[in-house]
Amino acid sequence: MKHFLSIEELKAAQIHELLESASHLKATRGSDPLILRNQTWAMIFTKSSTRTRVSFEVGIRELGGFPLFLSGNDIQLGRGEPIKDTARVLGRMVHGAIIRTFAQQDVIDFANYSGISTINALTDDEHPCQILADLLTIQETLGGWENRKIAFVGDGFSNMTRSWMWAAKHLGFELVIASPPDFQPPADFMLDLNASNVTITNNPLEAVTGASVINTDVWLSMGQEDQKQKEHAFAGYQVNTQLLADSSPDHIVLHCLPAYRGKEISEDMLEKHADVIFRQAENRLHAQKAVLVALASEAASCVAN
Ligand code: CP
Ligand code: NVA
Repeated sequence: MKHFLSIEELKAAQIHELLESASHLKATRGSDPLILRNQTWAMIFTKSSTRTRVSFEVGIRELGGFPLFLSGNDIQLGRGEPIKDTARVLGRMVHGAIIRTFAQQDVIDFANYSGISTINALTDDEHPCQILADLLTIQETLGGWENRKIAFVGDGFSNMTRSWMWAAKHLGFELVIASPPDFQPPADFMLDLNASNVTITNNPLEAVTGASVINTDVWLSMGQEDQKQKEHAFAGYQVNTQLLADSSPDHIVLHCLPAYRGKEISEDMLEKHADVIFRQAENRLHAQKAVLVALASEAASCVAN
């Protein structure tokens, strides 16, 4: 594998291989393969992060590499230097790059112009690292997703829901997304997705009834903080005790975090499911180490050597 840019472009077999590797790395943490020895990985972040930043910094170190954190505001990118020039500079100095930003196209351009292995650490379109960790959490807690219904209640066309829809397309599980009518995936996206196992409703109760996994995420993603009026549309879409009364008896609740208690999830619901939700956060580390291991040999052969 050369890059890890989206769930959309992965194959089911690659997802299964990454999850198997993540489980193994988790079980053997402390005796990790130093597969990134002598490698420097740039981490270019133009959006805030706690989990993604820390899990990548720790993961790169545990695999023997050196993480170089570059805040978008501190480098010339923040003053308008084009991504393609940033890419051509870093591509001559470091072995791989991890990018969190707005436009998916910027991550694609970085990968193309730098020539080095590139990982999408969240864009407006996708959050592939998170979905890998979520799938690992489902495997660990429910034994997998076969014959399970997975629900997502919230913004139907965010980075999280888009990545979930592509995961459902590749892996074949039933995914029901409940969103207000104005925040559902557009028809052209659904046509492109072409997955009969993904359905969209504006009824959150319909989505969670019989569901084994109930997912939610913030109503206002990073970059949308000034769209406060958007929140009004989500009244009735909170994951709380009343909503989950008819979900599967062994259901789990997932939240990629950070959570806004009292908005997309109630305080008691988050605390009730905290063990799984914080396991999900920890799994970011193991899932991303699996991605790094998968990219390590491509990174080793780049110009920085
Ligand atoms: N879930 C997630 O990506 O968290 P951060 O924004 O803290 O990295
Ligand atoms: N949809 C959220 C995910 C945060 C991890 C956002 O983009 O802000």
